[in-house]
Amino acid sequence: MRNRPVLVDTDPGIDDAVALLVLWRHRRIETKGILASYGNVPLSMTAANARRLKKLFGWEIPVWEGASAPIFGKAGKTADYIHGEDGLAGLGKILTPAPDTPIPEGEDGIEAAYRRICELGTVDYISLGPLTNLAMLTRRHPDAWEHIGRVVSMGGGIDIGNVTGNAEFNIHCDAEAAAEVFANAPELWMAPLNITTQVALGIDEIRKLTEGGGELHTVFRRLLETNFKNCTEYGEPGSIMHDSVAVLLYIYPELFETMRCGIAVDCSKERYGKTSVTSVRQNVLLPTKANCRGLLDRIGECL
Ligand code: BDR
Ligand code: CA
Repeated sequence: MRNRPVLVDTDPGIDDAVALLVLWRHRRIETKGILASYGNVPLSMTAANARRLKKLFGWEIPVWEGASAPIFGKAGKTADYIHGEDGLAGLGKILTPAPDTPIPEGEDGIEAAYRRICELGTVDYISLGPLTNLAMLTRRHPDAWEHIGRVVSMGGGIDIGNVTGNAEFNIHCDAEAAAEVFANAPELWMAPLNITTQVALGIDEIRKLTEGGGELHTVFRRLLETNFKNCTEYGEPGSIMHDSVAVLLYIYPELFETMRCGIAVDCSKERYGKTSVTSVRQNVLLPTKANCRGLLDRIGECL
């Protein structure tokens, strides 16, 4: 598989932080920029968290601020009950953010990302949060679709939900944006809840992977222990690695069994954010099974 340069759209978020770690460790994947989104916590916090992780990793890439709210209306509930009030298990007070990436006067982060996409020619776009940024970018610049080879999205689920009985958080944040992206992306690889909820780190494994000190291990021990505690309080089997599954689907597709389909996103009040399989289009690669142990091992190698 030929990988193109990558832009990552994210709302860190503990599992986003692990997914960014996986991307950063895989240097053969050329990650060219991070576009922050509202989601797990408000935009000002997710953007600062992305810059905190950039500094922690010593990663020389731009971080732009994207959307602070869905296309229509206001941002809804955050997921601070899983990620902590600051999105990073309280580490916001301790980790210093890298400085802001300067953008030209009159431009915003979405415009800066579009400009970068055009400069790069073709990119793959990995989305680990709501799909608002991508919907806004392609609304403003429909030609952007010609520059995006593949969208990879952590989002949705089939007959399963984590906000309502049938809606997943990222899609539920902005179902209208998600509906546009799922309808218009030429090629979209989806990491649904059906798979991501099976990829969970246990507490003993977290402690083993993060033993030995050093700033990276200390930070990820705190993040993963907090995530473990919060996820298990909500009945999950461990620290769920939702966003890393999307990144690993991109890097190691051989660890998944998949089917081709279209995905419809329901924007009605009654079933807001529900995703279902349709045969209308065949632009989506939907994993149906995964080698979960293999995925957890790939994550472990990055710590
Ligand atoms: C998704 O929602 C967020 O809380 C996680 O970061 C992940 O992207 C899982 O539903
Ligand atoms: Ca996320």
